[in-house]
Amino acid sequence: MSKFLIAPSILSADFARLGEEVENVLAAGADVVHFDVMDNHYVPNLTIGPMVCQALRDYGIQAPIDVHLMVKPVDRIIPDFAKAGASIITFHPEASEHVDRSLQLIKDHGCQAGLVFNPATPLHYLDYVMDKVDVILLMSVNPGFGGQSFIPATLDKIREVRRRIDESGRDIRLEIDGGVKVDNIAEIAAAGADMFVAGSAIFAKDDYKVEIDKMREQLAS
Ligand code: DX5
Ligand code: ZN
Repeated sequence: MSKFLIAPSILSADFARLGEEVENVLAAGADVVHFDVMDNHYVPNLTIGPMVCQALRDYGIQAPIDVHLMVKPVDRIIPDFAKAGASIITFHPEASEHVDRSLQLIKDHGCQAGLVFNPATPLHYLDYVMDKVDVILLMSVNPGFGGQSFIPATLDKIREVRRRIDESGRDIRLEIDGGVKVDNIAEIAAAGADMFVAGSAIFAKDDYKVEIDKMREQLAS
């Protein structure tokens, strides 16, 4: 896997042509498919579930699918997503009654596991589970919608999480989600992130490759 991963959020894709959209964005150079699951309970929006994940696999999508669960409760949907072809499953710790159990459940089902932190969620949830997380996802907007602006205070949080990851000595991805654009991706990477979710920044453009190439140029500079 390369140092920096670009993970387009299909929340901003054309759902009526989802298979084709995912195929196109991967052909344009994306590394991972970011799959936003919203339940109209934990977050005020409703999106897609395991059937759609399975449909993408049946369509022939082979890239890693990064399932971002914005649901409460967490545990009962995990096995369904694992069976439907998820590669990574992340959840918000405050939405789980038993964070360690939920992480273990994801791993027992053969997926990579991660925790997601909203802009104002403290990092103490990491304290006793660093050995179980493969990904730490920091939200740089409040979850529920695409197209919001990056919250600058996230940069300090990224630096703090980078410090904790380096201290752990483990190979943990640091993923940022919300308002990531060509204009700010270099600064986000400099703070310590290595996986970038971008929804509107990519899918609102006519040519996905041009946008992804611009992001990679920023990451290389
Ligand atoms: C928000 C979602 C994000 C969202 C990002 O709750 O988790 O993945 O789609 O969209 P942009 O990149 O448009 O901020
Ligand atoms: Zn997301």
